[in-house]
Amino acid sequence: MPLITVVGSGRVGTSAALQVAMRELGDIVLLDIVPGLPQGEALDLNHTCAILDLDVDVRGSNDYRDMEGSDVVVVTAGLTRKPDMTRLDLLLKNAEIIKDVSRHIREYAPRSKVIVVTNPLDVMTYTAYKTTGFESSRVMGFSGLLDVGRFRQIIHSRLGVSYKSIRGMVLGEHGDSMVLLPRLTHVGVEPLHRFMDEKTIAEAVEATRKAGAEIIRLKGWSAHHAPGAGVSLMVQAIIKDEKAVIPTSAYLDGHYGERDIYAVVPCVLGAGGVEKIIELELTDEERAKFKASIKVLREAASQLKF
Ligand SMILES: NC(=O)c1ccc[n+]([C@@H]2O[C@H](COP(=O)([O-])OP(=O)(O)OC[C@H]3O[C@@H](n4cnc5c(N)ncnc54)[C@H](O)[C@@H]3O)[C@@H](O)[C@H]2O)c1
Repeated sequence: MPLITVVGSGRVGTSAALQVAMRELGDIVLLDIVPGLPQGEALDLNHTCAILDLDVDVRGSNDYRDMEGSDVVVVTAGLTRKPDMTRLDLLLKNAEIIKDVSRHIREYAPRSKVIVVTNPLDVMTYTAYKTTGFESSRVMGFSGLLDVGRFRQIIHSRLGVSYKSIRGMVLGEHGDSMVLLPRLTHVGVEPLHRFMDEKTIAEAVEATRKAGAEIIRLKGWSAHHAPGAGVSLMVQAIIKDEKAVIPTSAYLDGHYGERDIYAVVPCVLGAGGVEKIIELELTDEERAKFKASIKVLREAASQLKF
């Protein structure tokens, strides 16, 4: 039975654990620094598994040694963005937490694939890569499925077309400079612009960019159901060696003309982690937006020491 460890037993961590359990991808270890929290959440999740006949065991722990033997480690530990904070404000505090978690992963789960969720996402993933010392293919960040999912939800609500028939892609930062690609968004086999005018598409792109902040404004804390769902698809792609094309924050080593930085790009995910980065043919405008997004990420990364 594969083993999936989720570090951080808050909202996103427990949502991810629930959705991983629902897919019966493996046994789960929930970790947190708060005594009792992961144990209580694990008990609750085990009861969920009993009710739904999911043959998965969930264990809660405050001891990193319990992640030994993990195939995948999902990192959600950290602080969340408050209404008046940008993701980049979180940078310095969460970087210290990610460094601490990464040292433990290196010690106790040295063969695992690591999926970082903590914000600011791309720079935290870079921090995990630098601190674990793992090959870049084994360290990746979650966010692309969330941002594309939000865009698809708007298209679905406008056009009344099944989610199954709406596909899209995003590049760059998980943040304000994200580059959604309406030109490469398809409804059935036709491009989105056959169904929506330019103004409506621009509004949908903007609403997608602001969706995370809108959720915080409305309910007072950040999204967790949708992130949990998206994380479970990345875990599944790795555990089941799916070779699924998923927008993933990945280490760029000459890809898209960039080096030594993490940013969201389409990746083939399988048992090896990020098995391939797909280089899309971009228009000049898309490429310029991507470069601008990379600049934002480089500025953030330059504030950290490794
Ligand atoms: N990438 C994305 O798309 C995405 C989406 C939503 C949220 N997030 C981010 O995910 C992170 C978690 O969000 P949340 O809503 O679950 O927050 P939360 O406050 O509910 O949970 C965070 C948990 O991390 C724990 N923690 C802190 N330091 C730790 C450490 N050193 N070791 C182990 N556990 C530790 C805390 O005790 C807490 O239980 C935030 O940074 C948030 O911004 C990312």
